[in-house]
Amino acid sequence: MKLLPEIAKRKSPRAFHSRPVEEEKIRLLLEAMRWAPSSYNRQPWRIVLVTDPAVRAQLHAGLMAGNRRWAVKAPLLAVVVSRPEADDVRHDNGIPYYLYDCGQAVMSLVLQAEHLGLRCHQMAGWEQGPVRAALHLPEEEQPLVVIAIGYEGDIADLDERSREKEMVPRTRKEIREFAFRDRWGTPIC
Ligand SMILES: Cc1cc2nc3c(=O)[nH]c(=O)nc-3n(C[C@H](O)[C@H](O)[C@H](O)COP(=O)(O)O)c2cc1C
Repeated sequence: MKLLPEIAKRKSPRAFHSRPVEEEKIRLLLEAMRWAPSSYNRQPWRIVLVTDPAVRAQLHAGLMAGNRRWAVKAPLLAVVVSRPEADDVRHDNGIPYYLYDCGQAVMSLVLQAEHLGLRCHQMAGWEQGPVRAALHLPEEEQPLVVIAIGYEGDIADLDERSREKEMVPRTRKEIREFAFRDRWGTPIC
């Protein structure tokens, strides 16, 4: 038995090719989001896809410098948006599932992107003001994450700092560090 190839090979690269993402593929990414599960099927996610050069430039200005360095090359930027006032409908357990749901929808998009030969790099490193202004977001809408989407490029084309970060080996916790059997803290294996 093996991991799904899309899970096994997925990564968040910094090197993007400038080749545009085909409209048909964009459509499939959105379809993948569309069919994500959500609490009470509320589907709280919204997404703004940015390809227009002027809007892209405004969005780039809102990214933290460390992200801007590499993200400017990505042909497609997406901003996932929720509306806390409408979407934060808590159940009896008090958990704000709309954020959980938006995350699931993004993962659905990310895995579909991998399936289509695309890569995604999610970012929390951006400023609210410029991102809101770039998209003309109404006050009640809350941007959650910016995603660079495109075909993976050549690491040699990255600036030095981004290239150094890109070379750091990807690591993960061991399963026994996050999964327990029967009682909290009892290692699963
Ligand atoms: C919500 C979220 C925010 C992130 N923000 C940033 C970011 O601002 N800049 C960045 O370079 N990577 C960012 N990442 C990417 C993570 O650093 C990356 O997923 C993690 O290091 C694991 O690497 P991998 O995705 O290649 O497996 C973010 C990822 C997520 C899910």
